[in-house]
Amino acid sequence: MATDHEASARTPALSLTGAVKAFGPVIALADGTIEILPGEIHALVGENGAGKSTLVKILAGLHHPDAGDFRVDGEPIAFRSVADSKAAGISVIYQEPTLFPDLTVAENIFIGRQPRGRSGLISRAEMRAGARELFSRLGVPIDPDRSAEGLSIADQQIIEIAKAISLDAKVLVMDEPTAALSGVEVDRLFAVARSLRDRGAGILFISHRFDEVFALCDRITVMRDGRYVATLETSSVTVDEIVREMVGRDIDQLFPKEPAQIGDPVLTVRGLSRAGVFADIDLDVRAGEIVALAGLVGAGRTEVARAVFGIDRYDTGTVELNGRAYTAGDPQAAIDAGVGFVPEDRRKQGLVMDLSVGRNATLTLRSALARFGIISSARERRAAEKWTKTLQVKTGSQEYAVSTLSGGNQQKVVLAKWLATEPRLLIIDEPTRGIDVGTKAEVHRLISSLAARGIAILMISSELPEVLGMADRVLVMHEGRIAAEIDRADATPEAVMHAATASMEGSK
Ligand SMILES: Nc1ncnc2c1ncn2[C@@H]1O[C@H](COP(=O)(O)OP(=O)(O)OP(=O)(O)O)[C@@H](O)[C@H]1O
Ligand SMILES: [Mg+2]
Repeated sequence: MATDHEASARTPALSLTGAVKAFGPVIALADGTIEILPGEIHALVGENGAGKSTLVKILAGLHHPDAGDFRVDGEPIAFRSVADSKAAGISVIYQEPTLFPDLTVAENIFIGRQPRGRSGLISRAEMRAGARELFSRLGVPIDPDRSAEGLSIADQQIIEIAKAISLDAKVLVMDEPTAALSGVEVDRLFAVARSLRDRGAGILFISHRFDEVFALCDRITVMRDGRYVATLETSSVTVDEIVREMVGRDIDQLFPKEPAQIGDPVLTVRGLSRAGVFADIDLDVRAGEIVALAGLVGAGRTEVARAVFGIDRYDTGTVELNGRAYTAGDPQAAIDAGVGFVPEDRRKQGLVMDLSVGRNATLTLRSALARFGIISSARERRAAEKWTKTLQVKTGSQEYAVSTLSGGNQQKVVLAKWLATEPRLLIIDEPTRGIDVGTKAEVHRLISSLAARGIAILMISSELPEVLGMADRVLVMHEGRIAAEIDRADATPEAVMHAATASMEGSK
């Protein structure tokens, strides 16, 4: 193809070759190599802990490589700070959004470069208009004047994206930007990415979702264990080939759902409402059953889960576990009744960053152990080891602080923590967000085997294949209500998407 030839003749907008980065004894990056051409979207894939985010942080000027060759527009360069990277035209969206909660949305976008009026004062009107313009390009209705505090992760991510776009960067790096987004938002983000590419920007895109990588990217670079493996043209490889390069083996079934004996209702919710958030929620999850709550981001799925678990209050309605009500608005009462909850925002709600991996994995268990007066550290260590091993948490030692783990491995520690409690009802918000393809299959197998042991599972997921592959029943939420209930046999992508986006009238 002529374009391929042209591409290889172009000077890369950015190239990093043989970069090394160690943190004490941990070699996070042994050979970080990437080349981004102007006008291409380039994917970077690899298992959790492969070194992707470390490479990104080098490009961002946040980490200084111990060795390696780094060039921008063909010229050798060394960044001393994040400001140097920005000045070179590199804009980075991190895996974990980094907004200032005390500032407004518009202030977050324009921080450090607020437009000034003739008087030299910051022009709020201009900032607001600028933010509004960006959001309309992205097709999202976020109020520029609201504070960033309390925004969903999806909204935070969109604000980071708006900020990056407004910088008009030469190279845009997105570290798992879609992990918190659902179909419609992903489509919008992709449209924006393509238009930036068509204007000559180079884009680096990191994702564990292969459908996205193949839909969006021109080339794919694969990393394994901190090392560069290969760069391939998307048009000439298959998903299976990429997975093999990534994990070094074939993986079997991604959705190993076992048939389970479905028993009596474990969770019974009737008429649950909270003004302005959700209304008239009726839902049952029976022993052994996996029920998926599907819908767009903002449809109220997480809010319902939080109310059931007692983190948030509700105005009216009843919630029962095995026919018995437990105190509303009290997570401890929910835990005592046998409810486990793996939250969506694991970093903020699920982990104590400064504690060790082992401690985090057994945090919930400790209260159970303590009740019987037997906190044995050997027992605790065994429990931590069992679950972190099952989930293949990649850490040098159980004693390392959780904050040093890669994003996907942090997710696994939260899962481990709740699995260790052996709950009767397990609510999982986005079970495999940010988790690599090999471990995804493991997590799915685990969920399926928990159900087979009679645990009731309520799963919230924005990944349609996961919903269709795992659920016995799909409840689709739309604007705070359950718009449709679809049995496994009838659950097609079209049926779920239609219910998620259709107006209430249409779906009745
Ligand atoms: N500050 C740090 N201190 C110690 N180890 C670190 C630090 N940062 C990263 N690591 C380690 O380096 C390795 C690579 O991590 P990195 O975050 O780059 O992985 P990743 O490919 O982005 O994974 P994921 O898909 O889970 O986001 C991991 O084993 C991680 O634990
Ligand atoms: Mg990462």
